[in-house]
Amino acid sequence: MSGLADGVTRARRLLEEADRLVAVTGAGVSAESGVPTFRGEEGLWKSHRPEELATPGAFRRDPRLVWEWYGWRRERIGGCDPNPAHRTLARLARDRGLRVITQNVDGLHEAAAVELRASPEGGGPGDGPREVGSSGPADLPERERPLALHGSIFHVRCTACDYRAPRRDPIDASSRDSLPACPHCGALLRPDVVWFGESLDPNVLGRASSLAHGADLCLVVGTSAVVQPAASIPLATLRSGGRVVEVNPDATPLSSSAEVALRGRAGEILPKLIE
Ligand code: OAD
Repeated sequence: MSGLADGVTRARRLLEEADRLVAVTGAGVSAESGVPTFRGEEGLWKSHRPEELATPGAFRRDPRLVWEWYGWRRERIGGCDPNPAHRTLARLARDRGLRVITQNVDGLHEAAAVELRASPEGGGPGDGPREVGSSGPADLPERERPLALHGSIFHVRCTACDYRAPRRDPIDASSRDSLPACPHCGALLRPDVVWFGESLDPNVLGRASSLAHGADLCLVVGTSAVVQPAASIPLATLRSGGRVVEVNPDATPLSSSAEVALRGRAGEILPKLIE
């Protein structure tokens, strides 16, 4: 058996034996959907690094530039569909109670869960009949809703008051005056995402840490595992005696702690774990 096939067999066994499952995902899980990763070759936009644009300081200095970048990413992500990796995790969430904890702001985990619920095979056990195509993220049962550590690129929030809302329409970043403004107070709106130098929502982070702590298996998929605090979440599973299975074409700082490190693309490997 090849190294990868052997690893897949071991990972399948760990998955079958586990009672409480979590998955921590990063940009790599969406790479096969066409969403550029942050640290890959496509990570640069007009020669800016994400670390230069995704900061409160960059937005204060040049909100038009930052909105232009987010507008480009929203447009690009808006044309992407979930791939087999998102679909496999959505199945595990529905059938095995796996909780997805993601650093991604693209909404593709939700989209896969919604797609699965709306498919002809219908919702999970105990749910009533559903009309095909009638559901959206808000209809997902709590346990199937991914925890989005870094927010959502399709939500906005006010830079001055408490206003927050979903927003998917194109952003006009042609000038400072065309940028979206708060309907309540008129201040600038910003993407509802966590930027470098900002804290994560303590409720979301606390929930993610406690799920990881209580899990006996943590799948870590498509993350370079270098951005904190997200990179530490799988460590909570390890500290409580659980195991980590990593899926990533490249090694990461977490690889040496993983029980199994599957070197390959998430969309190809994850479906093999539940076939
Ligand atoms: P990165 O871009 O740092 O890492 C993506 C990881 O995915 C790398 O380890 C790749 O090897 C791996 N990868 C690429 N293609 C893959 C595939 N097809 N299947 C599986 N893995 C693949 O992205 P993140 O780790 O998500 O934060 O980055 C973490 C955070 O840094 C992001 O949430 C964002 C970013 O700056 C904020 O914006 C706050």
